[in-house]
Amino acid sequence: MSAKIIKGIEVAALVREELKIRVQKLKEKGITPGLGVVLVGEDPASVSYVTAKAKGSAEIGIFEQTINFPADTPEEEVLKAVDRLNKDPKFNGFLVQLPLPKHISTDKIINFISPEKDADGFHPVNVGKLLRGEPCPLPCTPYGVLQLLVRSGYSPEGKHVVVCGRSNIVGKPLAALLIQKKKGANATVTVCHTGTKDLPYFTKQADILVAAMGVPKAITADMIREGCVVIDVGVNRVPDPTATKGFRLVGDCDFEAMKEKAEAITPVPGGVGPMTVTMLLMNTVESAERTAGLLK
Ligand SMILES: NC(=O)c1ccc[n+]([C@@H]2O[C@H](COP(=O)([O-])OP(=O)(O)OC[C@H]3O[C@@H](n4cnc5c(N)ncnc54)[C@H](OP(=O)(O)O)[C@@H]3O)[C@@H](O)[C@H]2O)c1
Repeated sequence: MSAKIIKGIEVAALVREELKIRVQKLKEKGITPGLGVVLVGEDPASVSYVTAKAKGSAEIGIFEQTINFPADTPEEEVLKAVDRLNKDPKFNGFLVQLPLPKHISTDKIINFISPEKDADGFHPVNVGKLLRGEPCPLPCTPYGVLQLLVRSGYSPEGKHVVVCGRSNIVGKPLAALLIQKKKGANATVTVCHTGTKDLPYFTKQADILVAAMGVPKAITADMIREGCVVIDVGVNRVPDPTATKGFRLVGDCDFEAMKEKAEAITPVPGGVGPMTVTMLLMNTVESAERTAGLLK
């Protein structure tokens, strides 16, 4: 059996077409959704994520502005920028690109973002709302994973989803989303981490397996059961002398071997990644719609 390849690029393109129409409707009411991005330093991965966010915004008609700071900018300056963005009505949502340089407290910055403008959904108030099932901006990668599953015909409802990884940006919020008693969720969820004894025992039980560990080939074909749906969130750089940049991107799963056993699988790149950026645009549009009274 050769698995269906779940192409995040195609699903993301579809969602963006829907968002274009929603942005158009807002513009007819005189509202242009605005997204702010704060980038501190020049970490190559962060620069490439920020570029993708700006490109995606332009594509669907959102106003986007990136505020660049050198890596040695004092924390106080970044907090001041957050304060300005909190108060500026041009921006329906904004984010501070992570990771931040070590001298800046990520928690302090995130806690200072107004929860209503928290485009990444990382503020503790929104984390609490997510857990309680209340409306809030959803963390982009977990939201993207859910949309990818539902829109590809693999709704997690009633399924056993095994999430490998418990970070605050992927694993934990994804588990919180999946357990909600809601359409497109309502799954039975197991969360695995480095404290899990006998990881394959759990992964073999998955109807849907999500790998978010940041370890190349952490999940191999013998760790899943025939017919499992695999979502690979991992993005890892591995050296490749044949590549122009000297490296290539791989996920956390042994894609080639697993695609012969899985029912469906996401590639890396071109799987979850494009969905993450698209869900950020979704959060911005939803925030603008809420401000305009079009959403509750
Ligand atoms: N495609 C996208 O849009 C997107 C977005 C975000 C992240 N990512 C990628 O997704 C991956 C995970 O990101 P993250 O920020 O969640 O990473 P993270 O903060 O490093 O968390 C990794 C998690 O995986 C667990 N883990 C690591 N090795 C493990 C092992 N051998 N067995 C079991 N659990 C293990 C860790 O367990 P402990 O908690 O016990 O340490 C931790 O909970 C990275 O490759 C990242 O680049 C992709």
